[in-house]
Amino acid sequence: GAPVTQSLKKIELGQQLIVGWRSLPVFIVNRTPEQLKVLPAQDPRLVDPKSLMDQQPKYAQNGTRSIKPEWLVMIGICTHLGCVPDFKGEIKPEPFDPNWQGGYYCPCHHSRYDIAGRVYQNVPAPKNMVIPPYHFVDDMTVQIG
Ligand code: FES
Repeated sequence: GAPVTQSLKKIELGQQLIVGWRSLPVFIVNRTPEQLKVLPAQDPRLVDPKSLMDQQPKYAQNGTRSIKPEWLVMIGICTHLGCVPDFKGEIKPEPFDPNWQGGYYCPCHHSRYDIAGRVYQNVPAPKNMVIPPYHFVDDMTVQIG
């Protein structure tokens, strides 16, 4: 598959855009400072908080799983059986977790991920969602692939 180039200009703070790459949905999120701030506190509840499994390029093996902290670029496929998880960006109580801190909820079998795509413990999905190869062409343009 060919690389895909996407402008980030129209993605508002806290919002997600989904683009196609190699027939896969790629989630691009403009994360807020608040969404980023809660990430470290999730570590004890996660399967692979330090992203030690091979689910991302080296340059995304960090606390935000990204090149620039605010921009998440991630393949939106649940690592259980491949459903597309729902974006739940808001930090507010949810029926599935009264202490929800924002991220992704898979409607198929209730797997949950934080807003860096790191999977919570005690859900069916075994791994963090995959970060594809990508780079910034300029400040507000990303190329996937
Ligand atoms: Fe997502 Fe099963 S496919 S939890």
